[in-house]
Amino acid sequence: MRALIEDDNINYEYIIRYLRDSIPERQGLLKEMEEFAHTYSVPISQPESIRFIEVLLKIKPAEKILEVGTAIGYSAIIMAKASGGEVTTIELSDDAYRKANEFISRSDVAGKINVIHGDANEVLPDLEGSFDFIFVDAAKGQYNDFLPHCMRLLKKGGVLVSDNILYKGMTATDELLTHRKITIVKRLRSYIETLKESKELSTAIIPIGDGIALSFKEV
Ligand SMILES: C[S@@+](CC[C@H](N)C(=O)[O-])C[C@H]1O[C@@H](n2cnc3c(N)ncnc32)[C@H](O)[C@@H]1O
Repeated sequence: MRALIEDDNINYEYIIRYLRDSIPERQGLLKEMEEFAHTYSVPISQPESIRFIEVLLKIKPAEKILEVGTAIGYSAIIMAKASGGEVTTIELSDDAYRKANEFISRSDVAGKINVIHGDANEVLPDLEGSFDFIFVDAAKGQYNDFLPHCMRLLKKGGVLVSDNILYKGMTATDELLTHRKITIVKRLRSYIETLKESKELSTAIIPIGDGIALSFKEV
């Protein structure tokens, strides 16, 4: 337990290293984006998490994908490439929105990605259409607010992926919980409860990256 507390990771370092070594190294633009994210501390998806999503999308291609939380467009590009579909992605920050558009315009899926600049809490209620796959990867404390909109926008048979739901293990045990994070962790716990109790969803929690909830929309 001590090692986990000190390292902030939900998995042991040797497991993380092993998982990452099993993923082919990104090349070209995606590699440049990883380096940019590292240099400027932009929180992009962890390699094993985005690899999981990438493979999911290859298994079950999605024509329409919605992402909440673009950052610099790294996951949006990977999802567009893996699925062959269109990605609508929402980003609040001015700087991230600008940078995402810069990177996306240089990718070979530029025509497939639409970045909406705004707060998902304001954008989602007005969003129309239906999506095969939704990736929620924005402010963790707001997942409960995003959920009703995601449920409305997700097709029957669609997939909802929610990232960072174990939040450095704090969601799973009070032993790791720090005072400053109590509110956010309570919200994440309540989010997971809602997913679990939903009659419309079947959910599995996957302990990779910072924890992923993988939900299938039954009805
Ligand atoms: C973890 S990053 C997204 C990483 C990205 N999905 C990737 O893997 O490349 C989270 C992003 O969500 C954005 N964000 C946070 N709250 C938001 C909100 N309410 N609406 C839209 N974007 C939000 C942040 O500005 C940040 O860029």
